[in-house]
Amino acid sequence: MALRKLVAGNWKMHGLSADLAEAKAIAEQSKDYPGVDVALCVPSILIERAARALPDFTIGAQDVHHAEKGAHTGCISVQMLHDAGASLTIVGHSERREAQRESDEEVKSKATAALSCGLAVILCVGESLEVRERGAAVETVVGQLDGSLPHVLSSETELAIAYEPIWAIGTGKIPTVDEIAEMHSAIRQRLRERFGADGDQVRILYGGSVKASNAVEIFAIADVDGALVGGASLKATDFIPIVAAAA
Ligand code: G3H
Repeated sequence: MALRKLVAGNWKMHGLSADLAEAKAIAEQSKDYPGVDVALCVPSILIERAARALPDFTIGAQDVHHAEKGAHTGCISVQMLHDAGASLTIVGHSERREAQRESDEEVKSKATAALSCGLAVILCVGESLEVRERGAAVETVVGQLDGSLPHVLSSETELAIAYEPIWAIGTGKIPTVDEIAEMHSAIRQRLRERFGADGDQVRILYGGSVKASNAVEIFAIADVDGALVGGASLKATDFIPIVAAAA
């Protein structure tokens, strides 16, 4: 049975107080699509204001530290995110895996910490262009999953996987329908191997240059249960048509 779709926006390092007007417009217009789950992962400094302004809308973070507290200058804990009003977090985005050299092990710790404290998780995986071109995309992504999936699913909250080919992020390039289908099927298979029938309930999102013009085609692919959207999530006029395509 097809899963309810999740369309999550990742504002990355974009957004000032004035941009909360866009978040409000997105939250308001999303109500026209009650069959789709919609979320915005805003910069951490905006989470509290966004959550206060939009109490019925899902506000997420873009990263979290695995520890409960301690000497981790500049880091933010799961409890802090809860306290600020976030109900989900992205972990393992390729921009962090690359720039902050986050390992699979670290991503697993973050996902485990978040899920165990009731914060939903979008765990990102994806291959580089070099890996895709040498034909190792599927084994690389499945290897990332093996290294970064938590040991158990939470009965309290949700884990979703976002497949984001690095070469498709912010470039306007996307894999072919067959390439997306092959990868999502491989991810689904691994989730079943790890979690049994519960693996069928884990949503698998596609991310990388999703726009209104390609969303219908992407959402029609088997095992694509939504999208993680970067650039096109900054404005309601770009984002809402993607939500509509998922409805
Ligand atoms: O988290 C979102 C992804 O990195 C996709 O970004 O939609 O700007 O390509 P993009």
